Amino acid sequence: MAEATTLPDPAHARAGIFFDPASAPVHPGTTAHPGLRHLLGLEGLSAHAIHDLLDAARAWRARWTRSRAPVTTLAGVEVCNAFFEDSTRTRLSFELAQRRLGATPLGFGVAGSSCSKGESLLDTLRTIAAMGVDVFVIRHASSGAAALAARELGVPVVNAGDGAHEHPTQGLLDLLTLADAWGGSFAGRRVAILGDIAHSRVARSAIHGLAALGARVTVAGPATLVPRDAGALGCDVAPTVEDALRGADAAIALRLQTERMDRGLLPSIGDYVRAWRLDAARARLLAPHAVVLHPGPMNRDVEIASDVADGERSVVLRQVANGVAVRAAVLAWCADRVAA
Ligand code: CP
Repeated sequence: MAEATTLPDPAHARAGIFFDPASAPVHPGTTAHPGLRHLLGLEGLSAHAIHDLLDAARAWRARWTRSRAPVTTLAGVEVCNAFFEDSTRTRLSFELAQRRLGATPLGFGVAGSSCSKGESLLDTLRTIAAMGVDVFVIRHASSGAAALAARELGVPVVNAGDGAHEHPTQGLLDLLTLADAWGGSFAGRRVAILGDIAHSRVARSAIHGLAALGARVTVAGPATLVPRDAGALGCDVAPTVEDALRGADAAIALRLQTERMDRGLLPSIGDYVRAWRLDAARARLLAPHAVVLHPGPMNRDVEIASDVADGERSVVLRQVANGVAVRAAVLAWCADRVAA
C-alpha cells in the first residue's frame, strides 16, 4: 500500500507497558520471552508511539475505503481470539481486521470449551499456544490476564480488555475518533468522562492516551464510582456532571459496569439517572463543536439518553468503524509485519 505505515519502536514504550519481558521483573517459576511485541495498555506509551499507530490505522482506513481487494500483510499468521468474557464489537472487529489482512483467525469462547471442566486460564492458553498460533488477542474479566499471558507464552499478546485495568485498542479507537473530530490536534482540548470510572478499563486507557497526547480529562460520577487515584492519573474530578461538561470538547459516557461492582455502590438506578445521565440539556453545556462518545454496549436512557446517543454530536458508530482499522494497525505491529 502507498500510505506510510511506520510502526512504533518498542523503545518508545516504557517497560511494562508494551509489556517488555526482557526488562520487566520476572517472577520465580515464570518464563520471559524477549523481543516480542505486546500491546497490554496505553499507560506509559509515548505520544510518538500512539501517533504511529493512529497513522497506520488511518492508512488502513483509507485503503479499505478505496478497495477491499485482499492483502497479504498477515498471510500465514494465525491469530487466536481468546475471549473469556462476552464481546460484540471488539471480537468481531478484531476478526474482521484479521480477515482483511489475510491472517487466519481462530475463535475461542469459554462456552463450549474445556474451561467448563476446570481447566485454568494458563493451561487453556498454553494448550492453544502449543498448536502453533502466532498472536493472541485476549479478553478476560481479571485485570492482568493479558500480562500474565504475555509473560508465560512465547507469542505476542494484544489485550482486548482485562477486568477494570485497560482496553488499549478501545483507547486507540477513541483517540482516532477524537482526532477526526478535532482536525488531528489534541493540545488544549478537554474531555469529560462520565459515570462509572472506577470499574472502567475504557476510562483508564482513554485517560492515559489523552494525557500522552496533551489533552486534559475531567471525570465526574458518583463518589463510589470515581477512583481515589483519579488525581494521580492526572484527571480533574468535577463535583457534578454539569461542571464536567461545561465547555468540554468531547464527552465519553460510560456504561454502569454492574458485573464488576460490589453491591451497595448506588442508591438506585433512578437516582443515578437523575444525577449523572448525559441528556440533551446537559449535552448543550459542551462546546459547540464537541462530540459525544460511548464505547458500547449502551444502556440507553441510563448513562446516556437515546436522543443524545443518536443525535448529531454522537460519533458512536464512527468509533465502531474506526475499531477495525485500529485493530489492523495493532495486529500488524504485534506481528512485526509492515503493510503489503
Ligand atoms: N467496547 C467494547 O469493548 O465492546 P464489546 O464488549 O462489545 O467488545
